[in-house]
Amino acid sequence: MEKCEAKKRIEKLKETIRYHRYLYHVLDKEEISPGALDSLKHDLYLLEQKYPEFVAPDSPTQRISGKPLDKFVKVKHSQRMLSLNDIFDYGELAGWENRLKKIIPKMIGGYYCEIKMDGLAVSLVYEDGILARGVTRGDGQTGEDVTMNARTIESIPLKLDLKGLFGAQTNFLGGIFEVRGEVYMSIKEFKKVNALRKREGLEVFANPRNLAAGTIRQLDARVAAKRKLSFMGYDLITDVGQKTHEDSHEFMKKAGFPSNKFNQYCRDLAEVENYYKKIQKMRDQLSYQIDGIVVCVNRLEYYDKLGVVGKAPRYMVAYKFPAEQSTTRIMDIEVQVGRTGALTPVAILEPVNVAGSVVSRATLHNEDEIKRKDVRIGDTVVVQKAGDVIPEVVSVLPRMRDGAEKKWKMPKCCPICGSAVKRVGKEAIARCVNKKCFAQVKRGIAHFVSKSGFGIDGVGPKVIDKLLDEGLIHDAADLFSLTVGDLEVLERFAEKSAENIVAAIQSKRVVDFDRFLYSLGIRHVGLKTASDLAVQYGGIDNLINASKEDLFEVENIGEVVAESVYDYFHDQKNMDLLKKLEEQKVGYNKVIRGKKLKGLSFVITGILVSFERSEIEKKLLDMGANVSSTVSRKTSYLVAGENPGSKYARAKKLGTKIISEEELLEMIKK
Ligand code: IVH
Repeated sequence: MEKCEAKKRIEKLKETIRYHRYLYHVLDKEEISPGALDSLKHDLYLLEQKYPEFVAPDSPTQRISGKPLDKFVKVKHSQRMLSLNDIFDYGELAGWENRLKKIIPKMIGGYYCEIKMDGLAVSLVYEDGILARGVTRGDGQTGEDVTMNARTIESIPLKLDLKGLFGAQTNFLGGIFEVRGEVYMSIKEFKKVNALRKREGLEVFANPRNLAAGTIRQLDARVAAKRKLSFMGYDLITDVGQKTHEDSHEFMKKAGFPSNKFNQYCRDLAEVENYYKKIQKMRDQLSYQIDGIVVCVNRLEYYDKLGVVGKAPRYMVAYKFPAEQSTTRIMDIEVQVGRTGALTPVAILEPVNVAGSVVSRATLHNEDEIKRKDVRIGDTVVVQKAGDVIPEVVSVLPRMRDGAEKKWKMPKCCPICGSAVKRVGKEAIARCVNKKCFAQVKRGIAHFVSKSGFGIDGVGPKVIDKLLDEGLIHDAADLFSLTVGDLEVLERFAEKSAENIVAAIQSKRVVDFDRFLYSLGIRHVGLKTASDLAVQYGGIDNLINASKEDLFEVENIGEVVAESVYDYFHDQKNMDLLKKLEEQKVGYNKVIRGKKLKGLSFVITGILVSFERSEIEKKLLDMGANVSSTVSRKTSYLVAGENPGSKYARAKKLGTKIISEEELLEMIKK
């Protein structure tokens, strides 16, 4: 990015962040997710690191922009309440340590790692052992007096356990004792309050943090008392002789404050990274929301020297979990032509980390969606991984616009073959009318050889491209006549040798009938429908002879699917392919569906280690079960692999039985 462009973008980012932070911190509202807001802040932070000459005192990275609300009495903090810089991966963690070591090369003593609670910061001041004030962070210098509400929180001691802290000696430190920590609400309580509000026709809160913030800022303490808030201590401001941050926690505990039982001392960054992974894994099992860990230099003797930069101390950092949503910029919009000729607009993004992996393309679904969201080239957008895997553009941040953004239109001609593009009836999808369009053929073949279809290893998109380019194949049937000699053109770039590819193709001349049907790529016929048709019809001739009405009679098959199947077998081009396959002796085995899992419905989420997901799905179908992609009340089991996605949370919500991969394997044992 050019320097002048960076300057402009910094200004836009500041303006946008200020707007969303005000909504979030002061009004307890949100238009974009906290993850997306973090992503904007991170962009700004990185740009300011690259161009320090543009760092101004008004930057959200330099000061805490939550303003204390007028309705509360304002209280000045004894020491500024700081915030933390965020990091998102191990590289940034290592970068942080390098910066520390530049200041203190021989730093020792390790790190103290804490759970980062998703609530809001409160300072508790005790005078002569009695809770005198509870104050929110506000702008860092001055906060709001919420003492009345703090007194309703059971986990906040009203009176300190001075004996626990100092033994017999109870007159201490001029009588002042200050602890800071997070006020939060458990997920259970959040659901309870929201359910009640819903019943009363009131607006519900978006998340426990918002509800906790709204509650602690209640003018009527009776309301706060009814909604049960909790407190977790994370810092002891008063000097009681602690030498490390870990000591601070020990003292806090002795005085009667909760300190998170999962906090842990780590000797080095490798241990920190393990801790981060461990906490990330157990995140969903906790009864409260967390958004990462806090890594603190343990020895307090270093704190003065390390100091504070802007709003954040150098000696602590927030190591956040990857956000489900991030923000980035659309560099261009391209059109992808699908197997069925569908033209899908795809946003080409400035690469960004979303939910743990770098994303550079995101679907925009179709023209209507682009119009509805008013997406333009050059826009800064919120992206997320939809349904666990496919990244999509969720919304545009119009405040980030600088006037150079360009509107986009669906091309009138197919970008691959130049044929006309049409939308049929009320369909939102535009399609290339040319059934022979190269892209369609290519995707059709890729579908044919895919894991759920013929499952031919080594014939990936690059190989298919090359074979079509060289005129070696025109359709899937041609694959079966390829020889090692033909394939030598691929040697340079194919991962597998020509021999291996030929062997892989030849070993798959005969597959189960449902796979055979699936691989034909009939519109609307996924693995499940293919399996239903295979069981019902037994062979291809029966299907060719079936009327639309016959097809419609099959269990689980609706009008649209029946019509699509019928149309497929009444299109000469497809009949030619079937004939060619037959000539190549490509065939199928009859499918008999077992009854072992009849009536059960499965949904799979996350990564399975022992089998490809499609293999498991096929096994389940063969045993008479149903496999679906969404969790509903009808789901009998959710199979949770590694890194389960949003389906996991939904299953938990619905009380669906959740089983592990091992339990599933046990079930499908013959
Ligand atoms: S230490 C110098 N420890 O995260 C600031 N903060 O993003 C000291 N938070 O303002 C913060 N859990 O409201 C610390 N275990 C924890 C925390 C924690 C949640 C919040 C806190 C802070 C914000 C910074």
